[in-house]
Amino acid sequence: MVTANDPFATYKEYGKEQGYDLRWLERRDVWGQQLDSTAKKGGLLLQDVDSGVAAEVPDESRNLTGRTRGSIPRTGVPRVGNYSVRTKADIWLRNGAELYEEAVARQWASATDIPWHTIKPLPDDIERAECQLATFITEVEFVAGDVPGKWISAVTPDYYEPRMYLISQVMDEARHLDVFRKRALVNGGGLMRRTGNTQGVVGGNIDSARDFTEMSARLHISGEGSVLTLFRMGELMAYNDAEKHIYRLCAQDESRHVAFGVMHLQYLGSIETDRREEIQSYLDEAERALVTGASGQNPAARGLASNAALAVLLGGGDDKVDEGMKTLLAVRQRQVKEYVQRVRVAGFGERFENGRANPMLEQYLKVY
Ligand SMILES: [Fe+2]
Ligand SMILES: [Fe+2]
Repeated sequence: MVTANDPFATYKEYGKEQGYDLRWLERRDVWGQQLDSTAKKGGLLLQDVDSGVAAEVPDESRNLTGRTRGSIPRTGVPRVGNYSVRTKADIWLRNGAELYEEAVARQWASATDIPWHTIKPLPDDIERAECQLATFITEVEFVAGDVPGKWISAVTPDYYEPRMYLISQVMDEARHLDVFRKRALVNGGGLMRRTGNTQGVVGGNIDSARDFTEMSARLHISGEGSVLTLFRMGELMAYNDAEKHIYRLCAQDESRHVAFGVMHLQYLGSIETDRREEIQSYLDEAERALVTGASGQNPAARGLASNAALAVLLGGGDDKVDEGMKTLLAVRQRQVKEYVQRVRVAGFGERFENGRANPMLEQYLKVY
């Protein structure tokens, strides 16, 4: 029915006569709700605009058509996605939109945000070690982008916040890959030996995860957690301002990636308590990787070329590897401490009190 104040009244009348479906011209429930887009520091954020039906996140999604959450469904639309992640608890976290907005706001460019001119010729042993480490990290970053990338199209659009967050992570990892590649090639060293060790291919086991949370525990909590600690200690292994910038900017991104994993575990563990045992088993695996280097993702783990390269960088040369190893042990200790802290924040700290945690964790802290 045409109302007196409907601005589209004439078109609707005309369309009706011509047989067109013009229901899309009808007003939504939020029509006229003007948002204040200027008052807040940080600008207009996703969490500010999502209200009413647009903010309703279903516990289970039956959306297989790519319909944008909050839009009006229509019949007869073909299924475009057979999304395997259609249960909220499987992927949700409480601050997904905030994390995505932060990721977008804090993008940087390796071409212009790194003071490359501060890299001067280095002693051969230092340059070789720097290049070996950069080569290893490039491999790790490749996995860190590839694996979450596989999950993006598996997530229903109803959970668009974690979905878009994962897209931002893939961009971050591409940048990490490019910045370490540039570091390896910029100072006359070059890409060094690829990783091949008794611990297998870098990140191979992350790739085999069948469940999103399993993947997230392996990638965000275990792998990226260890890399984040190392990047945070980048000052100790940097020989110029460019390298300091690289480690600092990458750490900033990695802390977001780790936060995603922690917040997701926290949400899932609080909503689906019957999955807590399953999560504890993922943490068992993470701890085995942490103490033995079994995942092959931790550059500081023994037996890797990157481990020896780190000892050279931390010690200050081929002839100071023993001193470097001592500092490296401090890095390993901090990796364990920060892992324990993350698991506590995620709500699974009881494992450190009830004997579930890997006993070697404590041993590590005592020894180092
Ligand atoms: Fe990364
Ligand atoms: Fe990452």
